[in-house]
Amino acid sequence: MSSALNVVPTDGALGAQIADIDLTQPLLPDQVGQVRTALLDYGVVFFRNQRISEPDQVRFTSYFGQPVEHVRKQRERPVPEIFIISNVKENGKPIGALGHGEVSFHSDLSYLRQPGTLSVLYAVEIPQEGGQTQWCNCTAAYADLDSDIKERIKDLRAVHRHYVEEQNPPEMIDHPVVRTHPETGRKSLYVGPHLTKHIVGMKSEESVELLALLYAHLEQPRFIWTHEWQVGDLVLWDNRPTMHRRLPFPAHQRRLMKRTQIFNDEIPF
Ligand code: SIN
Repeated sequence: MSSALNVVPTDGALGAQIADIDLTQPLLPDQVGQVRTALLDYGVVFFRNQRISEPDQVRFTSYFGQPVEHVRKQRERPVPEIFIISNVKENGKPIGALGHGEVSFHSDLSYLRQPGTLSVLYAVEIPQEGGQTQWCNCTAAYADLDSDIKERIKDLRAVHRHYVEEQNPPEMIDHPVVRTHPETGRKSLYVGPHLTKHIVGMKSEESVELLALLYAHLEQPRFIWTHEWQVGDLVLWDNRPTMHRRLPFPAHQRRLMKRTQIFNDEIPF
């Protein structure tokens, strides 16, 4: 039995820091249980001042499910479960995904039938300006909707699709607009401007109008928490009750993050 972890909630809409823990060392089962509980309570947990290797990151990720190679292929790497998110170029070619622009709100890999469940991001290099990641508490946002909107969206589904056509499965993937967390039973909004395309069975103008209304609701500052990255930060988040967006940063400044992801074969319901 280990002692209680030092879990410090942010003063924002979600998220908690877990302090005084060294992720180069294996965690005890009880510590893993405490991190899992904090993740269910706060949606996002982060650890500062880590100096971990790629195998350390994969080991940490594996406490919460099976880390898998990202569906988007990158050049061969010694630890294939690590996916690089970076604007850095080597020999004129990007070494990772997502460049330096804004990446609007999304839940990871929602264009798949079984989307990503949890994600981990480790900061290796960060820009001097911009490049923050913001998470939205989609459970709080859903709870705060007017009852007439809740009634209107309760049985709706929306198509999710990656903007790079080859990333998508051959069939159209749709998910409920309101999903239920399989562990907490709480309901969350599950639409975001980066990957959601339209509401199934709705006329285009009506779908555009409804999604715009839901996005404007989600993007209110009271549902959002901004993570100001420091080198050595490791963030673990639950994609089921949260969405996230990455803010832009200057193209000439370097940002290098290492990501791992877990799929738990869950179909959103
Ligand atoms: C992502 O959108 O998955 C990456 C977030 C980030 O680079 O901060």
